[in-house]
Amino acid sequence: MKLNRNFLSLQESYLFATVGAKYAAYQAAHPEKKVIKLSIGDVTRPLAPCVIFAMHRAVDEMAKKETFKGYGPDATVYGYDALIGSIRGRYARRGVELEAGEIFISDGAKSDLGNILDLFSADNTVLVPDPVYPAYVDANLMAGRNIVYADATEENHFLPLPDERVAADVIYICSPNNPTGAVYDRAGLQAWVDYANRRGAVILFDAAYEAFVSDPALPRSIYEIEGAKTCAVEFCSYSKTAGFTGVRCGYTVVPKELVREGVPLGKLWTRRQCTKFNGVSYITQMGAAAVFTEAGEREIAENLAYYRANADRIAQTLREAGVWYTGGKDSPYIWLKCPHGMKSWEFFDRLLEEANVVGTPGSGFGKNGEGFFRLTAFSTAENTAEACERLKQFLR
Ligand code: MLT
Repeated sequence: MKLNRNFLSLQESYLFATVGAKYAAYQAAHPEKKVIKLSIGDVTRPLAPCVIFAMHRAVDEMAKKETFKGYGPDATVYGYDALIGSIRGRYARRGVELEAGEIFISDGAKSDLGNILDLFSADNTVLVPDPVYPAYVDANLMAGRNIVYADATEENHFLPLPDERVAADVIYICSPNNPTGAVYDRAGLQAWVDYANRRGAVILFDAAYEAFVSDPALPRSIYEIEGAKTCAVEFCSYSKTAGFTGVRCGYTVVPKELVREGVPLGKLWTRRQCTKFNGVSYITQMGAAAVFTEAGEREIAENLAYYRANADRIAQTLREAGVWYTGGKDSPYIWLKCPHGMKSWEFFDRLLEEANVVGTPGSGFGKNGEGFFRLTAFSTAENTAEACERLKQFLR
C-alpha cells in the first residue's frame, strides 16, 4: 500500500481551519471576552420564508407513500425539473439560454470545483491567480498537478489578464473574487475567454458571489461573454446567495458546445457524477427551487441588502481611518492593506488580541496576499457595528 504522497506537500492545516483553531484557542483562554468573527465567509441570515415553506412542503411529501421520493430523476445528477427550470430562468433573465441537460445539481461549488479535476489529465498545467481561494490550489496539489500563478496585485487591481507566454490548460477564475472582492468587467473576462479558446484550455469559473454584483454593467456569468460556451464550466452555489452554507446546494453548468479532444465535457461529467455522486436531497432541491422565483428573488434581495450594508459600514470605517482597501462594493469581502507595513499574521494576532475581532490573513491566500487582510460582511449587523467600533479604536 502506498499513500498519495501529494497530500504531504499540503500545508498542515487548511487556512480556515487554522484561523478557526486560533480563534477557538483565544476564546478558550479568555472566556469573558466577546470575540467577533469576520473571518470565514459564513452567513448569518436565516433561510428566506419561501425556502422554508417549500422545504416544509417537501418534508410532508416525503411522509406520504403517494408523493414519497427515493433517488432523484433519471441521471440523478440533473436534479428535479422545478430546480433546473428556476436556474434556467435566472440565466435567461441575464440573456443566457441554457439547456436542461447542461445544468448539474451539486452540494455546493467547492465540491465540484475540486471534483471536476477528475476529467483532466494529471499532467495538465493549472493556472490560478495569486491570491486565491485555497481550495483550488489544494485540490490540484492533491492530484499532483503543476500549478502556475497569475499575479493579482494592487497594480492590476487584483484582476490579472492572460499572459500569452504562459501555457495553461485549466484556468480558475472567481469573479466577484474571493478573497480580494475585485470583479472582472466584460473586457477582462473576454480576454480570458479568447485566450482559453485559442489555446484549447478550459476555464473553471466560480460564480459563487454573483448575487452581490449590483453594477448592471458587470458580468455575473461567464456565459454573458461571447465564446464562453466553448471554453468554460461555471460553478455556482446557493450558499452565499440564499444562506445555504448549512443546507448545501449548488449547480455546475457544462455547456454542450464545450468539447475537448472530440469529447463533450458534459458527457464525462455525467459519467463521473453517476459513478461518484447520488444527487442532492429532494427537500434541499425544493428549497433551492424557491430561491429564483419572484417571491424568492425579492426575499433574498433583502438578505443581500443586509450584507451590503455591513460591507458599507466596514468600508466606511476603513476609509475614515485612512486604510487602503478594495472590494466590499459588488462583493461581500473587503480586502485591506495592513497599516504600518504589518504582515498579515501580525495584523491578525494584534486585531484578535487588542480588538477581539477575527479576520483572515491575506498571506493565507498566496504570496501576493502578504501584507493584506480579508474581512467578511456576512456577520450580523449588530456584530459588524461593534466590530467596526473596535476596529476604529484599534486603527487609531
Ligand atoms: C471563505 O471564507 O472564503 C468561504 O466561505 C469559504 C468557502 O466558501 O468554502
